[in-house]
Amino acid sequence: MPLPWSIRMKIALGAAKGLAFLHEEAERPVIYRDFKTSNILLDADYNAKLSDFGLAKDGPEGDKTHVSTRVMGTYGYAAPEYVMTGHLTSKSDVYSFGVVLLEMITGRRSMDKNRPNGEHNLVEWARPHLGERRRFYRLVDPRLEGHFSIKGAQKAAQLAARCLSRDPKARPMMSEVVEALKPLPNLKDMASSSYYFQTMQADRVGSSPSTKNGVRTQGSFSRNGQQHPRSLSIPNGSHASPYHHQFPQNSPKPNGKT
Ligand SMILES: Nc1ncnc2c1ncn2[C@@H]1O[C@H](COP(=O)(O)OP(=O)(O)OP(=O)(O)O)[C@@H](O)[C@H]1O
Ligand SMILES: [Mg+2]
Repeated sequence: MPLPWSIRMKIALGAAKGLAFLHEEAERPVIYRDFKTSNILLDADYNAKLSDFGLAKDGPEGDKTHVSTRVMGTYGYAAPEYVMTGHLTSKSDVYSFGVVLLEMITGRRSMDKNRPNGEHNLVEWARPHLGERRRFYRLVDPRLEGHFSIKGAQKAAQLAARCLSRDPKARPMMSEVVEALKPLPNLKDMASSSYYFQTMQADRVGSSPSTKNGVRTQGSFSRNGQQHPRSLSIPNGSHASPYHHQFPQNSPKPNGKT
């Protein structure tokens, strides 16, 4: 059973609050640097806690705009400008948040080599749909079978698009993200009760090669019984994260492409 839409939005909101605190409320601003699903721990009520501060960095001080670091982080989540230049700002975390939000919307992992070519990297796959306001529904996890708020999914997709802006300055502050997410867990305009939406959905399932078999290979966001505390990570049999790299600085390669 897929994790319900409203719970996904609750988790996104909780995690966003965590980042907003680190960036904007902590006595000394902190850049988290390794924001990803497996570092969001959940309690029984799906309250999110950020874990693993091993890579966290003090934010820039005084009038500096960034800190320069060796590029560390996780493939598929790190902001492109950070990977390319090593310049770390809080907007790098905002990008990673955008990736996680996209994972929540789509039910896809940020990197999934089991998908068809062109779909390995979630952000690359999603970008064309993110730009098209009227096509956001193509992004939404088909396993939800319409049990999601239309307005909420649209808002979430727009927000993800802003977080994933190539220009870091165009990305919102985390406090803005929190404000945008606040109403989303409570929206009730379910797509499943919209005739118009059902028609589009049927159309999509018929035409998308990756949904043809009905069964999807990824197992993300399944509720895994009563194990507490949980995390949002995908139980795939191994705890080793295959995309966890230390990027060599100025490497031209890991720019999100696979
Ligand atoms: N306190 C905890 N309670 C329950 N599960 C946890 C806890 N800490 C970590 N985990 C889970 O254990 C797994 C391994 O975590 P670990 O932090 O070692 O690796 P990771 O999150 O994939 O990568 P990173 O080293 O970048 O954090 C993840 O699925 C994570 O969600
Ligand atoms: Mg971790």
